[in-house]
Amino acid sequence: MNLQGRHFITLLDFSPEEIQALIDLSRRLKQEKNKGIAHRHLVGKNVCLLFQKDSTRTRCAFEVGAADLGMSTTYLGPTGSQMGKKESVADTARVLGRMYDGIEFRGYLQQDVEMLAQHAGVPVWNGLTDTYHPTQIMADFMTIEEQFGHLKGIRLAYFGDARNNMGNSLMIGCAKMGMHFTGVAPKDLMPDPALIETCEAIAAKTGATLRFIEDPIKGAKDQDVIYTDVWFSMGEPETVRRSRIEALGPYQVNARIMEAAGPKAIFMHCLPAFHGMDTVLGQEIAKTFGQAFPIVQNGELEVTNEVIESERSVVFDEAENRMHTIKAVMLSTIGGAFHV
Ligand code: CP
Ligand code: NVA
Repeated sequence: MNLQGRHFITLLDFSPEEIQALIDLSRRLKQEKNKGIAHRHLVGKNVCLLFQKDSTRTRCAFEVGAADLGMSTTYLGPTGSQMGKKESVADTARVLGRMYDGIEFRGYLQQDVEMLAQHAGVPVWNGLTDTYHPTQIMADFMTIEEQFGHLKGIRLAYFGDARNNMGNSLMIGCAKMGMHFTGVAPKDLMPDPALIETCEAIAAKTGATLRFIEDPIKGAKDQDVIYTDVWFSMGEPETVRRSRIEALGPYQVNARIMEAAGPKAIFMHCLPAFHGMDTVLGQEIAKTFGQAFPIVQNGELEVTNEVIESERSVVFDEAENRMHTIKAVMLSTIGGAFHV
């Protein structure tokens, strides 16, 4: 397998074999790191991390992953570069491509990360756009494999805003890897029909299945993985909050949902998560909407504190695996052929 020079901007561009090889490489890198075996395969290389939106996991995963591989990083935050204001994305790509060996981009528009990829001349990695979040899926699938020993045949139900970047990318990932994806959401928060059609065509070849169910209890039944994400994604206006809470309240992942899923089901979330009063936004939501919607009165939105803190929750494994999987993506796209 040789991914040298490839971009990583959507999982649609990768075959099941390539995705599996990246997970296998991530597992090897994790084992090496845990044993204290250095893997500074990219000494002398430099990568640029371009963020239009905030981040904890993605930024730190790229920085630590790059350092472990022997590379230096430059972080450009939402206000730190000329991009977008005084300089086009295409010009920025051509400038950064002259200096760096790889570019990470987190932002709003998928077309921006595509534009970077078109003009940079070096690998471009999507660290999240409004449409997709492919590096998160790599970490999630590595975590599922750690839990169940395989991906094929796993039943994953995604609760909440199923047409956001996480819903879209999980659906694509499941279709690629022969998994059974269920979107559990109100009708108008289901994925885009055109993307569903694309994924159905992939699923027909891999043995995956896709279902879309509005009833939360039926959607949870007999699942291996219950997955959820925030109800309001980065960049969405405050004006969506009331209607979103109203629409997604019934889809909160709580003890009832986990019980319906069955005793073997694990809980997953890409994080950050709203599960109590210890965040500014959690407090704000509780204060503003708690009376009208008692379900959010304790700052618990998409998941209850009970579920996320339970033994069935693997959210911090997912967070750690962001680093191992992002490292594998950088190593294989900059460094070329690798052997597991
Ligand atoms: N899951 C995830 O992408 O987290 P950050 O926003 O902290 O990078
Ligand atoms: N849907 C979320 C994912 C965060 C990792 C967002 O875009 O804010």
